[in-house]
Amino acid sequence: MASKSLCFVLVAVLLAYYIYKPLPDNVEEKYKVMLMDATFRTLGHAGSLAELLGLKHYMEVMMLLTFAEHTEPTSDETITVTDTSFNKVPVRLYLPKQHSKTLRRAVIFIHGGGWCVGSAAMKPYDLLSKQTAQQLNAVVVSINYRLAPEAHFPTQFDDVYAVVTFFLQQSILDKYSVDPIRIAVSGDSAGGNLAAAVAQQLLDDPEVKVKLKIQALIYPVMQSLDLNTPSYQDNSHMPVLSRTLMVRFWSEYFTTDQKLFEAMLSNRHIPSQEAHLLKHVNWSTLLPDHLKKNHIYHIPEHGDSTFIKKYPGLLDRRASPLLLEDDKLKGLPLTYVITCMYDVLRDDGFMYVSRLQKAGVQVVHHHYESTFHGILLLNSSPFDLAIAHQVMDRYLHWLGDNL
Ligand SMILES: *[C@@H]1O[C@H](CO)[C@@H](O)[C@H](O)[C@H]1NC(C)=O
Repeated sequence: MASKSLCFVLVAVLLAYYIYKPLPDNVEEKYKVMLMDATFRTLGHAGSLAELLGLKHYMEVMMLLTFAEHTEPTSDETITVTDTSFNKVPVRLYLPKQHSKTLRRAVIFIHGGGWCVGSAAMKPYDLLSKQTAQQLNAVVVSINYRLAPEAHFPTQFDDVYAVVTFFLQQSILDKYSVDPIRIAVSGDSAGGNLAAAVAQQLLDDPEVKVKLKIQALIYPVMQSLDLNTPSYQDNSHMPVLSRTLMVRFWSEYFTTDQKLFEAMLSNRHIPSQEAHLLKHVNWSTLLPDHLKKNHIYHIPEHGDSTFIKKYPGLLDRRASPLLLEDDKLKGLPLTYVITCMYDVLRDDGFMYVSRLQKAGVQVVHHHYESTFHGILLLNSSPFDLAIAHQVMDRYLHWLGDNL
């Protein structure tokens, strides 16, 4: 009996130790966050173990979360939801039922997940798309692009771009009663990266006549040149997205070869002959002082030039939208950006805001001081956080007023 109790206490202590994670003071609902983070970390450990044993690719295990959160398309009295495809790429389409005398607005949504995981059908994304369609009486197209490790750059971008250019045809907009001057592209995390890249690509595409009214970039990934910005350093162990995981997502976007992962992890993947590009991601000039704190700018150590020869995507603005030249940036539409304080990607968002503003683009930036990456995914059970609803409501409200 005594040994049983002892065992129980021991297990409880170990479990508490595993789940406990010190979080910044201003993070709310700490125990829920810890539990969510522990679940997520466990999946990561399972992924590493499966990979070590040669059973599965790390991302195949991470993909289990996407499957666990899968929802079927469910229509209700206000919207019709269907899974279909545009230009051979699967999409989940949300069409409002409410009769409208005027043309409708549209939001093209691109989910996050580091180009490796995630789906439009995941409960939090499905909920976000439904609410967007309902609150804005808008058509929502949520894209299921192909993912790594099966597909690498630029497949993810190409799939998304194929959907966007298909949807922006006048005949298709007519079919869904969409107003061609009230269309937004939006995405979170890697989806924000793809949204930004799409908005840039459209500037140079003579085939597409319709212009975007808005790009909404929710804690987007914006560059792979410097993976040691102050936010990468300060938030390397924050919930949901550790620095290691983000670097893994980056390297998987280009290749499954671990050599690139290792080079990127030590921030040594850009060769000296390309160092001139670093000015576009120089956080020393692009960040506000309060985020620099006591960090001192160091140019990333020069890497071996074999990486950029093998993976030219490393220097491609479709992967790192921050690489676009200033004179091109000025053509971009009204931009909405969300950043979170405890996010490795925070400085990517801040740097893009700063460059867009300098180029004269209208930018609305909502920065959240008390939260971390991926917060919008925590808008539904089992890890439903109040802050997720605040962020989502404010985003939808802004979109409603401006689109
Ligand atoms: C970054 O900016 C600082 C000034 O704030 C400058 O001294 C440094 O040379 C810049 N480095 C690059 C690579 O642009």
